[in-house]
Amino acid sequence: MPKTAVITGITGQDGSYLAELLLSHGYRVVGVVRRSSAPNLDRVEHLLDRIELRPGDLLDQLSLVRLIDDVRPQELYNLAAMSFVPASWDQPLLTGEFNSLGVMRVLEAIRQVDPGIRLYQASSSEMYGKVREVPQTEGTPFYPRSPYGVSKVFGHYITVNYRESYGLFACSGILFNHESPRRGLEFVTRKVTDGVARIKLGLAQALSLGNLEACRDWGFAGDYVRAMWLMLQQDRPDDYVIATGISHSVRDLVEAAFGHVGLEWQEYVRTDPKLFRPAEVDHLIGDPAKARAVLGWEPTVDFKGLVGMMVEADLARLSSAGHVAASFVGRIAGC
Ligand code: NAP
Ligand code: GDD
Repeated sequence: MPKTAVITGITGQDGSYLAELLLSHGYRVVGVVRRSSAPNLDRVEHLLDRIELRPGDLLDQLSLVRLIDDVRPQELYNLAAMSFVPASWDQPLLTGEFNSLGVMRVLEAIRQVDPGIRLYQASSSEMYGKVREVPQTEGTPFYPRSPYGVSKVFGHYITVNYRESYGLFACSGILFNHESPRRGLEFVTRKVTDGVARIKLGLAQALSLGNLEACRDWGFAGDYVRAMWLMLQQDRPDDYVIATGISHSVRDLVEAAFGHVGLEWQEYVRTDPKLFRPAEVDHLIGDPAKARAVLGWEPTVDFKGLVGMMVEADLARLSSAGHVAASFVGRIAGC
């Protein structure tokens, strides 16, 4: 019998890569989508004939219970969240509803319907915040610096608590920043690679950024979803740091992305004080030793490869969009 997995957040970056991975392992994949008047299925468009989509919302306990009861999965990956850190200062209560209470709703739904379901919870290196130790491991204390980080600490500990209280097979993956051509445009890597491609193609003249000194341990999302899956294939549930173990500054990122297309970044990048955060996470670097030893997990894409992949994808997308727009204008002009 093929296994069935439910993915909340299937329309996001990680959800789309995870769906591809699970399909390649022969799973029946059921994605949870929240109701909206304009569906946002771009990232899973190419999978629609192979996955099932069901309505559900982390704000609505009943929708989760019904869904899990109907689908009866063996595994559930809880990726849904408000994931953009600056937005968490604008909407701290909603962030808490999604990222903290939302996790508890998922845990309760599993506990009520079938405590045998294995759960992956998407925890975050943002929980380390003002770091207490370098590099960060599974044992490093948390010191979150944003309402997002605080909300994820709750999600992390309630997952650990349900594992210890009720014996659920619940794993928390403490994932460091992971990126891809499917990353949302507001996150710094994608903002930079999209900006570089626009400047290279003559569609923009400059790029505004915030803090160039912040450092992150950036990896490739396709590698990180493999770690999520591996966690749920073990004999016992546990928590794991997933990272590359190498950190770069935003300035390094900018230099690599502009350098990839032969441009000098200093000529195009402006810093805008409005893009600085009320409290910054200055330096993240993870130690993935446990994931390597227990899961046999290794990243396959390095920083330079990741930046190059993202710049190339944005160049291709914007070039073909420009081509479509130009031919459309041509057709209008011709009629
Ligand atoms: P993303 O692209 O922002 O995707 C978030 C997903 O959550 C979207 O599918 C969104 O659906 C869904 N969602 C939001 N609120 C929901 C709700 N109330 N009910 C149901 N679905 C809801 O995020 P990502 O980068 O894939 O990250 C996946 C998870 O990993 C998140 O929990 C994030 O916090 C965590 N994480 C990410 C990273 C990273 O570097 N990417 C690192 C550590 C942890 P819509 O399409 O309807 O908006
Ligand atoms: N977004 C953004 N936009 N960030 C900028 C900019 C800018 O114009 N300029 C500088 N930065 C800096 C931010 O101040 C931050 O220090 C760093 O770039 C990374 O910002 P993001 O790409 O927005 O990611 P994040 O680290 O805040 O959060 C991401 O990673 C977390 C894991 O550590 C998100 O994916 C979270 O959901 C995830 O949990």
